[in-house]
Amino acid sequence: MKKDLLSLLDLEKDDFDRLFKRAIQLKQRYAKGIFDNVLTGKTLGLIFDKKSTRTRLAFETAMVQLGGHPIYMSAQDTQIARSEPPKDTARVLSRYIDCLAIRTFDQSLVEEFAQNATIPVINALTDAFHPCQILSDIMTVVEHKGGYKDVKIAWVGDGNNVANSWINAASILGFDLRVACPDEYGINPQIIEAVSAKGDNNVVYTNDPKEAVKDADVVYTDVWASMGDEAQLAKRIIDFEGFQVNKELLFGAKDDVMVMHCLPAHRGEEISEDVLEDQNSVFWDQAENKRHMHKAILENLILGN
Ligand code: CP
Ligand code: NVA
Repeated sequence: MKKDLLSLLDLEKDDFDRLFKRAIQLKQRYAKGIFDNVLTGKTLGLIFDKKSTRTRLAFETAMVQLGGHPIYMSAQDTQIARSEPPKDTARVLSRYIDCLAIRTFDQSLVEEFAQNATIPVINALTDAFHPCQILSDIMTVVEHKGGYKDVKIAWVGDGNNVANSWINAASILGFDLRVACPDEYGINPQIIEAVSAKGDNNVVYTNDPKEAVKDADVVYTDVWASMGDEAQLAKRIIDFEGFQVNKELLFGAKDDVMVMHCLPAHRGEEISEDVLEDQNSVFWDQAENKRHMHKAILENLILGN
């Protein structure tokens, strides 16, 4: 049976561990100039309804470097924009390509595609989740901290798609996660409800960024206004006062704290210029690791191994 990756709750702990191991192996092999042409003759379709730099490039370069072929489609340039139903598009695409990655607004759309396609469907970001991002980010944590099990992670900012995927991952992998959001911008209760069945005692929710950051090994932030929320930015800049990840906030974290951001970053809003430009930062490793992790994801879903 085909597998999809619509949210991290689709994965078991073993799946995560296999993906981290394989992505790190693929990264090491690529550094030695070894290309694993495991996807020769395979085609990935990308339907993007929202802007992207990293995720699109990660999927496209991953596919090419594994011997396959990516086809990017702006949703606006397809018949979807002229109301062809997703269930018809999904069945047609299944006759052309071997895997489909979708970036869109509603999670229900990727679910509808997955239900009607006979090929694997990957969530390349929705309003609800960004699963591939968090897979590559935990890969970065594993590389820099030696593992994820005993790592304390603090989320500081909006209760958005990236935060939701961190919560999903924490519920499966069991690391400590403290999520600090301003009151009006907290995590959707449905997200919390969905993970409570898995056991989420390791996740703490607060509106105090200092509490979240205390003794943290990793501090993670993201934009205050995600794609689709831009009109609220002026209000959010006021409402998120005290939530900027800057040197003062990081004072309470461990001395070797690692700051992470999925990018793109907004200097002077969710993160200060000096933290973003810190010489020891891992933001660029994070961006690179998307390429290696997307390879591992594509190989796993397309070859079904
Ligand atoms: N981090 C991330 O998903 O970046 P893009 O929006 O550029 O793809
Ligand atoms: N939360 C952000 C992530 C961008 C990669 C957004 O959805 O716009």
